[in-house]
Parts: sequence; structure tokens; C-alpha cells
Amino acid sequence: MSSMVIVVAALVAIGWLAFLVANGMRGRSQDAVAPNLSLYKTDDELENRRLDRVLGVAVILSAFLAVSLPVYYLGERNRQASFEVEFEDVAIERGQYHVAEFACAGCHGEGLVGGVASYVDARSGVAVSWAAPSLNDIFLRYDRDEVRFWLVYGRANSPMPAWGAAGNGPMNDAQIEETLDYLESIQVGQADAVARADAQITAAIAGLETADASVTSSIQAQEELITFYDNAPPNRDLVKQYTELAERVLEAPDEGVDANNNGVDDLAEWEASYKIDTDEDGLADRAEEELTQIFQAAQDSGYAPFSALAVAFDPRNPDSTGLDNDNVVAHSKLGEMKQQLVTLDVAVDNLDRLRGQAAEGLAFLQAAADKSLYSFDLQAIADATFGGDVDKATRAVGIYQGLCARCHTSGYSEGPAFAQEAGAGSLGPALWDGRPNVQFLTADDMKKFLSEGSQLGVGYGVNGIGRGYMPAFGMVLSEADLDLVIQYLRGEVLR
Ligand code: HEC
Ligand code: HEC
Repeated sequence: MSSMVIVVAALVAIGWLAFLVANGMRGRSQDAVAPNLSLYKTDDELENRRLDRVLGVAVILSAFLAVSLPVYYLGERNRQASFEVEFEDVAIERGQYHVAEFACAGCHGEGLVGGVASYVDARSGVAVSWAAPSLNDIFLRYDRDEVRFWLVYGRANSPMPAWGAAGNGPMNDAQIEETLDYLESIQVGQADAVARADAQITAAIAGLETADASVTSSIQAQEELITFYDNAPPNRDLVKQYTELAERVLEAPDEGVDANNNGVDDLAEWEASYKIDTDEDGLADRAEEELTQIFQAAQDSGYAPFSALAVAFDPRNPDSTGLDNDNVVAHSKLGEMKQQLVTLDVAVDNLDRLRGQAAEGLAFLQAAADKSLYSFDLQAIADATFGGDVDKATRAVGIYQGLCARCHTSGYSEGPAFAQEAGAGSLGPALWDGRPNVQFLTADDMKKFLSEGSQLGVGYGVNGIGRGYMPAFGMVLSEADLDLVIQYLRGEVLR
């Protein structure tokens, strides 16, 4: 609106000037004597209604400018603000694009609410599911500089890759900022973050009871892997045999090749044998019968991934399975067979190395199960620290396991069987042996630190130097929970 006013005012002013100049020029060409040498008009002639009119117009124009400038000024501030919002919107949109392009949700979960990353543990070679934290509440735990740091450099020895150029990642500085803008735009409120932390604690408490079972099932999976390698050579031959049979029926041989040397080329033989297609699904009737037998036999072979391979094609029904056209179904079954063949080929070609690795992984898991460092004696913790109150001890251990262990217990994220003793330290310092009592002279000092987290270059406690790695928990944990976990960590028994 205000820019319209300015444009109109400028047009009026230009018109007025043009009028004056044109008038002056017209008058001059008629003068015989130079104006400064001739007598000009008298006062009476000059001070007429015309002068009043000219002055009047001038006053109106001045008044107009006097009003329109402040109006423009006021509008300008809004205009600037709306530009900023526009830039911000564009940045957020771009950030959203980066988050999609670099598949953050693949690990951090759809909507970045937290998820899991598949990871092969470096020490044991065992495949594990590593929890990836929620990002839509991360600004309650870290400030923008700290989040940028994790984004740019990733987190070494974890599935979190580096994304910034400085960490040899794919994003430039602007893309990192846009990603941060997007993350900021999707933050949930504090109440949601508190509820989520509570759910993590509850899950961790449940995890205390299922730790044994979870290790047992890891061991079982590892044993199955070893069996898979042991049986890979015979299975490869078996799968190859059925794959070739199905392939021979489904895929036309090359023209001109006569593999069996009978004087008729293979394509001609293939066409002759599979010609009739009464249900017109693209599969000849005889082919349907043969494929039914081949898929059934493959399933009967007992190779586990073929357990759902059998299908009964009916040469009078183009959609025997009720799902797809028979031809499509047959090709997808053949596809499954070929995929298995590739897997087995890789296994057989690298058999010694892969089987050796799997065996080492199994030994690692069994040793971990024997030591069972992942188990907690809640009664002992309760007796030592909580005056015998097992509920308090359980909650405290749940808080530690759910929110702290991933950085303060080495191996925690690789699964219970990998865990070192609670508080052994990894990204964060060791917290066992009463260390927190040495670092923080009082529980209050410690609470302040846990609430605010660490800051780059800022000292904490007696001799701590912050790097900004330790998240702030003041916004996501209640006073009572903070007190519990502090009491637990300042106690003598951690497990
Ligand atoms: C391959 C899986 C994977 C991908 C992809 C991934 N992350 Fe991560 N990220 C993780 C894991 C796992 C952690 C936690 C590591 C740990 O336990 O210390 C993490 C941690 C983080 C952290 C630190 C959070 C905290 O509380 O410790 C941030 C920030 C982060 N990721 C952002 C991102 C962004 C943004 C993207 C996409 C550009 C992304 N991540 C892609 C797996 C991944
Ligand atoms: C994302 C990783 C991470 C998480 C999660 C985490 N911490 Fe930390 N913590 C650190 C790091 C790293 C430090 C060292 C300070 C730094 O490097 O900025 C630290 C320092 C500490 C210290 C001071 C130790 C010392 O001796 O200097 C205490 C105590 C502590 N954390 C307790 C906790 C508790 C309790 C929780 C859970 C409620 C927790 N931390 C969760 C990474 C983490």
C-alpha cells in the first residue's frame, strides 16, 4: 500500500516539474528583451489568486509527504519482517529436503521421533540395532551450536555419520544451517519431551528383565548364522539346480544356440515345447505344469527361505493365485530364487572368512553372557543407596539406562550382551567408583550440571572441562528423577 502512495506522489511531482519547465521554455522563446533587463510584473499582478493556488498546492503536497513518509516507514518494518519470514520459510523447506535426501529418518525414525540404526559392531562383527535418539526435541537438550557439531562431525564409533564438509560429509555450510532450521521448526513442546523421556525410562526398566532373553536370542541368531554358512555349499548347489530349472521354463534361450547338439536350436525347441497357452496369461500350459512342480520341489527341498515358494498354477485360470497374472507370479518366484542364489554365492565365495567372523561373534556373545555385566542387583543397590527402597532403586537404574548409559557405559548401544559394567564410560567419562563425588562436591552442584549440560570450553565441577557434549536434562527430567539418578550415581553400588 505505502509503495503505491510513493509511486503516485513521485508521478505527481514529476508531472508538476515537467509542467513548470515546459511553461518556462514557452515564455522564454517569446521574450525579445532578456528578462533581467526588462521590468517584471507588479506586486498587484503577482499577488493574485494564481499565486494562492500555487502555494495551496505546495502546502497540500508537503502535507501529503509529511503523512506518507511515516506511513511508508511503518510499513517498511513489516515488509522487512515478512522478507525474513520468507527467507526462513525457504530455509526450512530446503532443510526438510536435505533431511529427506540424506535419509535421517532411516535411522532417527519417521518424523525424527527416534528410531534404530543397523550396525555391525567393530569388535565382534555382530550385527546390532543401535538406538538413534529423537531429533524433534533435541533443542531441549542441546543448543544450536552443539547440534551443529554433531551434524557436521557425526559421532565416531557409532552409526551416526558426519554430514558437514569439515567432517568429510556431503553437506556444505548453508545446507547444514538449513537442516538446523528445519530441525528447529519441528520441535515438540516440553510436555511431549518429558513424556518421551518417561517412556524411555519405562522401556529401560522393562529391558532390565528381558536382558537375559535378549542375549539368549542374540546367541541363537549367531548360531543360526553359523549353521547357514556350514550349509551354504550344498544349499548353493540345490538352489542353483531349481533356479536353472525354473529359468529354463520361463526364459527363452538365445537364438542359434544348440546346447544338446541335436541339430535343432534351443529357442526352436523351447518354443515347440511350451507353445499352447489356453488361458492366455502369457505362460504356456505345459510351462504352468512344470513350474508348479519345480516350485513345489524347491519348497520340499527344506531350504528355509523357500518355505513359501510352492504355488499351484491352473492352465485354465490366468490368475491362479488370485493376486496377479500367473506369468507375473512365476517371474517373481524365479526372482526370489535368483536372489537366494546370489546370497549363497557370496557366502560360499567368502566362506572361511565369514564363518570365522560369525564364530568370533558367537564367542564374544557367550563370554558376555557368562559375565552378564548387563544385569543389575536392584536389591543390593536399594540396600546400599536407597535405604532398602527397591522401587526407587529400579527407577534410578531405569533413568540411567534409558537416558545416560548410551554415553556413559561402553558398548551399551550394541545390546545388553556387549555392555561393560554400568558407568564404565565411553563418549562421556566413567561414572563408577563414586567418581561423581570427586567431580561434584555436593549433590546440588551435580544437579546444576545435569540440568544445564556442559558448554564448550566452560569448566564444571572440580576439574571438568566441558566440550558441549553432555546434554541438558533440566527440561526433560523432573526434579525427583534428577535427585534419584544423582543419589544412585553418588552411591557405592551401580549394579
Ligand atoms: C545410519 C544411521 C543414521 C543416519 C542416517 C543419521 N543418524 Fe544421526 N545419529 C545416529 C545414531 C545411532 C545416533 C546416536 C549415536 C550415539 O548413540 O551416541 C545419532 C545421533 C545424532 C545426533 C545427536 C543427538 C544426541 O542426542 O546424541 C544428531 C543431532 C543427529 N544424529 C542428527 C542427524 C541428522 C540431522 C541426520 C540426517 C542428515 C542424521 N542424524 C542421520 C544414526 C544416524
Ligand atoms: C550424548 C552423550 C551423553 C549423555 C546422553 C549423557 N552424558 Fe553425561 N557426559 C557426557 C560427556 C561427553 C561428558 C563430559 C563433558 C563434555 O565432554 O562436555 C559428560 C559428563 C557427565 C558428568 C561429569 C563427569 C565427570 O567426572 O566429569 C556426569 C556426572 C554426567 N555426565 C552424568 C550424566 C547423567 C546422569 C546422564 C543421564 C541423565 C548423562 N550424563 C547423559 C555425555 C553424555
